[in-house]
Amino acid sequence: MQIKTRSRVWFITGISRGLGRALALEVLAGGGTVIGTTRSGAVDYVDEIDADDAQRLTVLRLDVCDAQMCYQVAKAAMAIYKRIDVLVNNAGYGLIGAVEETALADARDVFETNFWGTTNVTKAFLPYLRNQWHGHIINISSIAGVAPGAGSPFYAAAKFAVEGLSNALAQEIEPLGLKLTVIEPGAFRTEFLGSDSLRHADVRLADYDSTCGAARLAFQNMDGNQGGDPQKAARVIIGIALAPDAPLHLLLGSDAFKRASAKLDQLQSELRANAELTMSTDFASAKQCASA
Ligand SMILES: NC(=O)c1ccc[n+]([C@@H]2O[C@H](COP(=O)([O-])OP(=O)(O)OC[C@H]3O[C@@H](n4cnc5c(N)ncnc54)[C@H](OP(=O)(O)O)[C@@H]3O)[C@@H](O)[C@H]2O)c1
Repeated sequence: MQIKTRSRVWFITGISRGLGRALALEVLAGGGTVIGTTRSGAVDYVDEIDADDAQRLTVLRLDVCDAQMCYQVAKAAMAIYKRIDVLVNNAGYGLIGAVEETALADARDVFETNFWGTTNVTKAFLPYLRNQWHGHIINISSIAGVAPGAGSPFYAAAKFAVEGLSNALAQEIEPLGLKLTVIEPGAFRTEFLGSDSLRHADVRLADYDSTCGAARLAFQNMDGNQGGDPQKAARVIIGIALAPDAPLHLLLGSDAFKRASAKLDQLQSELRANAELTMSTDFASAKQCASA
């Protein structure tokens, strides 16, 4: 079912393909307006869109790692419609390799796009969103930012950083009339696992064959067979952006639900099993205050 997005202005990073492309197309089909970014400054699907929808699409060139460019693009985007209703930090990529196998430069790069890119774009738009007194920031994290597995530790760490930033920022901007939702997708059938997106550590160590190596193989086999439908994800994200009571967190996909549930169970049982040890480090005076 098409969700009507008429009159909303969306700014979405990384609309060349995958989730960003699906979201841009769904917003346009619902009557909304999209300012989307790609690193080339163009998309190859304009001819496939209805002419009326294409008129409501503006594509700007942006590498989210370039903080200065983010400020320029935010200014240019705001000049077009004088407002942004929904800001989606979608641009990102994965990196496979055990901690020991991954070069620090590659680890830093994955943070540059996934975490600092999200930060750069958000900081560039916040002054405008504050002035408008309304707006919804949607950060695309990952199930890896909630329940990571062996094989992509630095990608998971970058998405954990996105989670931390999002949780704190949501509290800062709530009194200013702004909302934030962090989306945690499981495996979706995009180009994420393809050779143009996913990067690999240069080094492979046999000792990690059963953990990281197994994950690498699983990702290879999963490419093109992921259970998640990007168009359905796009529709859910649009629904969240239109909802008056949008959640702070939203998992997408049955695989994400299973992994997050198992992680929560593990956290709960560890928390309970070690409660006494946890409480044992307070000053005696603090204990009295807590029990008062
Ligand atoms: N698909 C999944 O299974 C999955 C699961 C969990 C989370 N996610 C997250 O979902 C988001 C979208 O991924 P996807 O699945 O749609 O992957 P995708 O098909 O590979 O698309 C990635 C998009 O990110 C853009 N991008 C990458 N680096 C960029 C940079 N430095 N500056 C600007 N744009 C950049 C790419 O643009 P270019 O054309 O310029 O390369 C492309 O449009 C990512 O944040 C990813 O971590 C995906």
